[in-house]
Amino acid sequence: MPIAAAGRNICLNLAEMPENWCIFALPAWQSVPFCALPHRSFWTLQPLRVYPPGNPAGAADANLTIERFDMTMLANLAPIPELYVSYDSAQKLKVEAANLKSHDLTPRQICDLELLMNGGFNPLKGFLSEEDYDNVVENMRLADGTLWPIPITLDVSEEFAEGLEIGEDIALRDQEGVILATMTVTDRWTPDKSREAEKVFGADDVAHPAVNYLHHTAGKVYLGGPVVGIQQPIHYDFRARRDTPNELRAFFRKLGWRRIVAFQTRNPLHRAHQELTFRAAREAQANLLIHPVVGMTKPGDVDHFTRVRCYEAVLDKYPAATTTMSLLNLAMRMAGPREAVWHGIIRRNHGCTHFIVGRDHAGPGKNSAGEDFYGPYDAQDLFRQYQDEIGIEMVDFKQMVYVQERAQYEPADEIADRENVTILNISGTELRRRLREGLEIPEWFSFPEVVEELRRRFPPRSKQGFTVFFTGFSGSGKSTIANALMIKLMEMGDRPVTLLDGDIVRKNLSSELGFSKEHRDLNIRRIGYVASEITKNGGIAICAPIAPYAATRRAVREEIEQYGAFVEVHVATSLEECERRDRKGLYKLAREGKIKEFTGISDPYDVPENPELRVDTEGVDVDTCAHQVLLKLESMGLIAGSR
Ligand code: PPS
Repeated sequence: MPIAAAGRNICLNLAEMPENWCIFALPAWQSVPFCALPHRSFWTLQPLRVYPPGNPAGAADANLTIERFDMTMLANLAPIPELYVSYDSAQKLKVEAANLKSHDLTPRQICDLELLMNGGFNPLKGFLSEEDYDNVVENMRLADGTLWPIPITLDVSEEFAEGLEIGEDIALRDQEGVILATMTVTDRWTPDKSREAEKVFGADDVAHPAVNYLHHTAGKVYLGGPVVGIQQPIHYDFRARRDTPNELRAFFRKLGWRRIVAFQTRNPLHRAHQELTFRAAREAQANLLIHPVVGMTKPGDVDHFTRVRCYEAVLDKYPAATTTMSLLNLAMRMAGPREAVWHGIIRRNHGCTHFIVGRDHAGPGKNSAGEDFYGPYDAQDLFRQYQDEIGIEMVDFKQMVYVQERAQYEPADEIADRENVTILNISGTELRRRLREGLEIPEWFSFPEVVEELRRRFPPRSKQGFTVFFTGFSGSGKSTIANALMIKLMEMGDRPVTLLDGDIVRKNLSSELGFSKEHRDLNIRRIGYVASEITKNGGIAICAPIAPYAATRRAVREEIEQYGAFVEVHVATSLEECERRDRKGLYKLAREGKIKEFTGISDPYDVPENPELRVDTEGVDVDTCAHQVLLKLESMGLIAGSR
């Protein structure tokens, strides 16, 4: 085999390479057989070493030997069973399924179904039967003894469940009504959700997001049975980055990757993660798969659109051809140790041989007593116990921290001279604070491209959208202050301002509504929805309805706070004063009984208990009231400074 070496650059004429031979090349990344070059092609790599069989470490550039590797299929790369029927059968089944009773899948069930159908949840063949469920909950095993840590259940309403016969086929549709699969209902039962919470998540505590979901979102009844896959759920985003287990296995085969270490993540990657994954690949002598979850993660996480852009920026930081990224449409449960085992099984199914488990893997945060749900290394301990059965090797890592004196990341437990060095770290909370306040994020912590993406998504508060929500009696002065505030904010001119005044809304959005409790709630929820959209898109929404009910105001607050600040301003003008002013003459009519359900007279008003601001209009002019609101906004960092 002719090999020409020039300095550290080596040219190989692979045209003469025999069939079934392949070259392992080592770019920058010491002693890891990273790139298996395709057969019969001509490549120049830089820098490159080819190592001899049995002596990778001692390979010398001048004395190159080529390892013969027969590319017969390795078990982890052989195709895995899927639940899909053939294209022709799917077309037929789809027509037949249109006559079946239908269940509209929730977003979480769509994620579960996708991984059931494409083999990501192999060996499951459908949603768990009652017997399998009981065993999974109690022993982390299916009824036949196979290891499976997380219940994959089809939760439905009691009404839907009651209308079904055991043995009946149902159609499983996505949220737009597309039939994705059929399921034969073999089991129907009412689960003991508290037991499930205790056993699977370690506590029946709604501070745990999956326990909260179990009690407040999941249906009361579970259905189980085998699934027949018709089509994959449709994704419009990042299609080229999504792979089924078989697509990934084929990709690894094509590239000749035999050992693959997977990295699970639901957060943007910073330098510590890059260092950790780099080390893991080196330790495992494997190629690296960044395998982020884009299905459902912990509420409050950075959205996957932003994260994927961040991951793409970090991919360039790895040596060429050593690393790839694929998106996983998994609905996480944040079940810590059990979740780690589950993640391992899923990655095994995707063709990986190694899996990184770090500190507090899939941890849900604090419980209602303010303590961590799981110990920091519980996930590693449980994984280690089941590693052989999972069929994937764990690469365990302690937390990576930055050592200032050595200007590098090191695993916290490997720093022998702790007292002589400065250890730096920025927590997630601190990062969010720095983003919110537009403060510096140092280069040792993250890559400039990642920080730029995060800054675009999380501009400082003074550039974010927000909502000012005035509430108070009719005639309290809400509209007047709101108008004055709008003008002052428009004068500043940095964000678009929209006024959703009570009267304007009733004319344009809610003209068909009256003043019953139900109609008022609907009216306020409409206002909340519009304000949340404005806030999400970086504008300022000023709302000025009466909004008499505390529960509805709370619901609107929750909706808006996902996207930006919600500033509740109680215009605390007394009922007597509003009635004395009676600008519209409505109080008189209400007293005479000519207007029914009038707030304060014949309908209740819940006084806000903890508004961000309370203003009293009695004896204070409008300008001053509006200025008080501006000062509040300034103190909350929402405006850069009142002029
Ligand atoms: S609510 O409860 O928030 O939906 O009410 P809202 O949409 O803000 O009310 C707008 C104006 O409707 C006039 N109006 C009444 N208010 C209260 N109760 C009854 N029954 C009623 N009927 C008509 C009232 O003048 C509100 O005006 P302002 O002054 O803007 O609050």
